[in-house]
Parts: sequence; structure tokens; C-alpha cells
Amino acid sequence: MFIKELSVENYRNYQSAEVSFSENQNLIFGENAQGKTNLIEAVFYLSCLKTFRGKSDSDAIKTGEKEAKIRGVFKAYGRDIEIKCDILSSGRRLFVNGIRENKPSNHIGLIKTVVFSPNDLLLIKEGPSLRRRFLNIAISQLRPGYIKALSEHNKIIESKRKILRMEDKVPYIDFYDVLNEKLSKCGAVIIRERGRFIEELSKIAFETGLKISGGRENLSFSYKPPSSVENFNDDNLENILYEHLKRRRDAEFASEMCLVGAHRDDFEVFINGESARDFGSQGQIRSSVLAIKVAEHEILKRDSGEAPILLLDDVLSELDPSRRSFLINDIHRGQTIITGCDPSMFDELRQGKIFTVKAGSVVNEKRNN
Ligand SMILES: Nc1ncnc2c1ncn2[C@@H]1O[C@H](COP(=O)(O)OP(=O)(O)OP(=O)(O)O)[C@@H](O)[C@H]1O
Ligand SMILES: [Mg+2]
Repeated sequence: MFIKELSVENYRNYQSAEVSFSENQNLIFGENAQGKTNLIEAVFYLSCLKTFRGKSDSDAIKTGEKEAKIRGVFKAYGRDIEIKCDILSSGRRLFVNGIRENKPSNHIGLIKTVVFSPNDLLLIKEGPSLRRRFLNIAISQLRPGYIKALSEHNKIIESKRKILRMEDKVPYIDFYDVLNEKLSKCGAVIIRERGRFIEELSKIAFETGLKISGGRENLSFSYKPPSSVENFNDDNLENILYEHLKRRRDAEFASEMCLVGAHRDDFEVFINGESARDFGSQGQIRSSVLAIKVAEHEILKRDSGEAPILLLDDVLSELDPSRRSFLINDIHRGQTIITGCDPSMFDELRQGKIFTVKAGSVVNEKRNN
């Protein structure tokens, strides 16, 4: 699948811009703060309905304007798909082929994207929230049920937190139990999907890790479910979570924190059996993240039968030439959109288009064949 055309209006620093992409490689370069990442973010938004930088959607509306518009024409599954989205401070309006779509779970996953940005290089070293975010973005594009479970889980945790912050919680005990019952249901879906995804990721990244390291590094992953869950595939997962929630109710009341649930899981990366986080060198960690991204791309590709769109935001300059070439050449079969400041970085990339971005305008377009 690939994006053919993108147009934006009052989006970030763009008043209005149109880009017609190559189905192969697309290089967007320009100086800092000109709008390169913003373009990639717009493509990602049409796919995942999230802004790239994890903040509120309305941040994407150009300062001083009321509404941002993004429109993309994609080619996927042998047909053209037009996705239009208006972002307002009060919410969004999404149209797919002219028809209004209100449910994110019906839309996310139609056009699949894999993003790799410098922030991802922290995936292994940083705390678990970055790893969960990675899992959420990848699995949401594979399983519509996951998106529903995740959004319900987040809402329930929010409601529980409100109760936990109350002076007198006693009148809410029954309601709290109902919330716990619901939390175990959606928590079980999330934990199962995350565990399975990590298992699959591990198989593919193992091969990729060997290739990147010239056979020296054996990469593996281990899903760490929240405590009390031993096996994420357990048929009884929902009950196990519910019983644990009941046992920990007093502790939750005392600490005023939600101590049990899918928001307490994580995964760990091992290189030759040792924790990458604790023992990995900088280079090994970079290679591992690269292997994770390549594996994510492969899983999404297997799922839909078409390569997802690969968005590489400023990441080439962070990688040495051999890793750079691996990234480009190993997953070159799909569409790639790459940003960067240094045009020499792109010397080895020949097939596709080169764009120059300046102060919120796409000023130059060149085709290389
Ligand atoms: N809502 C907004 N309204 C107006 N301008 C915005 C908005 N959001 C972001 N910007 C501006 O967009 C500009 C370009 O951002 P972008 O991140 O795309 O730059 P970039 O070309 O990727 O730069 P770098 O090379 O530093 O990564 C920034 O100066 C930022 O202040
Ligand atoms: Mg940028």
C-alpha cells in the first residue's frame, strides 16, 4: 500500500500544501523546523488517527486557526482510498471515500504505517510507557478489538483513579467492584494480544538481529505480564485478573493507585541471553531497535499481504552507514518516506522523489529513477 497524494490545510506550520508521492522512496529534506516531520505526522494521522508526538490532536491545528484539514489518496488492496480528516478543537471528522466514519476501530488498520523516529531509539533503555505505546500503535493496526479494549481500559482506570482520590470511598465500593470486573475483561484482551505480538516479534527479530550483527547477536524478547498472570494465553486470564484486583483492593485504597491491570505490563529485550537494557552497548541497542522496527514492518505486511508505509523521521543520521543501508535495503519493497537535514545522507537512494521543505511549503520536487 502507498500514499499517492497528501494535502494539508491549516495543519501545524502549513497554510496549505500538496504533495504527490512516489510509490517507492520519498526523501523530504530541509533545515530544522521547516515542516518535515509535520508532513510525516499527517500521513501517520490518516492511518492511526493520532498525532505523532503523543500530544493532543488539537495541537496540530495551525496557531490562530479553528480547523486543520488533512486529505490523502492511498492505493491499497487494488483500489484507491481517499481519507479526509478535519481536526477541530472539539474533536475530529473523518471521511473514508466520502463516507463519515465515527468509530476509530473501524478505520485504524485500513492503511498501515510503521514509524521510526529518534525517540524509538530510547525504546529499550527508557521506562515501560514508551514500549507500551509502541505495542499499542502496532497491535491497533492488526486487531480492531484491541483498540476497543484499550480505550475502555483507559477509561476505567481514569474512573478508578477518581474514586481513589476521594476522601470517602466507602459509598463507591460496589461501583468499584463493577469497574474491576470490566477492567479484567478488557485487560485480558490487551494482555493476550500483547503477549502474542511479542512472541511473533521475537521470532522475526531473531532472524533480523542475526543479519544485522553478522550472526553475532542473538536477539530475543520476553513479555512481562502484570504480576499474578503467569501465562498470557491462559483461558482463565480474566478470572485471574479479577481475583487479583479483589485481593489488592485494600492496597489500592491505601496507596490511591491502580495497582493491577494491563497498564502494569512490559517487555524485555535480550541480546545473547543478557538484558539489553542493563548490558547492551549503544550500538547493540540501536541494532535491536532496528530489528524491532523491521520485524514490526514484517508482521504488518504478513497480516494485510501488502507492505505498510514506512515513515523514517530523521533517523538515518542517527544510524551508521551499514545499519542505514540495512534499513533501506531490507525493507525496500514498500513505500518509504524519509526526512532528514543532510542531503548527502540520501546518496544511496535512487528510486523515487526528493522534496525540499521550507517554512511550511514544499518548494522543490525532483524525480530520480
Ligand atoms: N500548531 C502549530 N501551528 C503553527 N506552527 C506549528 C504548530 N505545531 C508545530 N508548529 C511548527 O512547525 C515547525 C516545523 O516543525 P517540524 O517538526 O515539522 O520541523 P522539521 O522540519 O521536522 O524540523 P527538524 O529538522 O528540527 O526535525 C516548528 O517550528 C513548529 O513550531
Ligand atoms: Mg523533524
